[in-house]
Amino acid sequence: MSDHQKRIAGEAAAERVKAGMVVGLGTGSTAAWFVKALAARGLAGLRCVPTSEATADLARELGLTLSSLEDSPRIDLTVDGADEIGPGLALIKGGGAALLREKLVWEASERCIVIADAAKVVETLGAFPLPIEVVAFGHKTTGNRIADVLLDHDIQMPARVRTADRGLVRTDGGNLIYDAACKAIHEPARLADDLKLITGVVEHGLFLDLADEAIVGTDAGVEVIGP
Ligand code: A5P
Repeated sequence: MSDHQKRIAGEAAAERVKAGMVVGLGTGSTAAWFVKALAARGLAGLRCVPTSEATADLARELGLTLSSLEDSPRIDLTVDGADEIGPGLALIKGGGAALLREKLVWEASERCIVIADAAKVVETLGAFPLPIEVVAFGHKTTGNRIADVLLDHDIQMPARVRTADRGLVRTDGGNLIYDAACKAIHEPARLADDLKLITGVVEHGLFLDLADEAIVGTDAGVEVIGP
């Protein structure tokens, strides 16, 4: 069911793309539907800037023309998924560990559309653990500093370093991810600022004031949410 919702959101977003645009390609299962729908449109003159190696591989397979932020520093439109969509289109992203490249691409974009299934829309951010990207060197010390900041925000659970079958998860940039089980983030802007001040934190998954529009797939079709 949610896969259908992700698919129709991705397809609706692909309709917003015009020939000749520079397009930022998000990461994750919803963004993959967008990439497939975009490739199927066969628009002329597109240049696509992927936010991860996984998305680059998919786009290449589908015959889309890839570019980079270095070669295409001004992006017309970025379409990407999210882990949570809160009030004012404040987002949590990074469940797929691509948050740093995603944020770099979003911030270089004239317009950003977030696409998601209906379950991603929440009243308060924080049920989804907040991903925080940190450099590997001294990461336990950085993790302790993150815990201190979280406590200052009344979040009692320390963040946990993300692992998978083969050990620590590495981002495309070689960094690590700490996931903070915040439960509820009452002051996202203050938390975003405080996390950024920690030496060793590269980026966090709070995307605030970046999304221009959300396209949400529901069982009844797509719903568009403005800022
Ligand atoms: C990738 O790092 C994330 O920001 C994804 O955009 C997010 O996790 C949403 O993924 P799905 O579309 O797979 O739910």
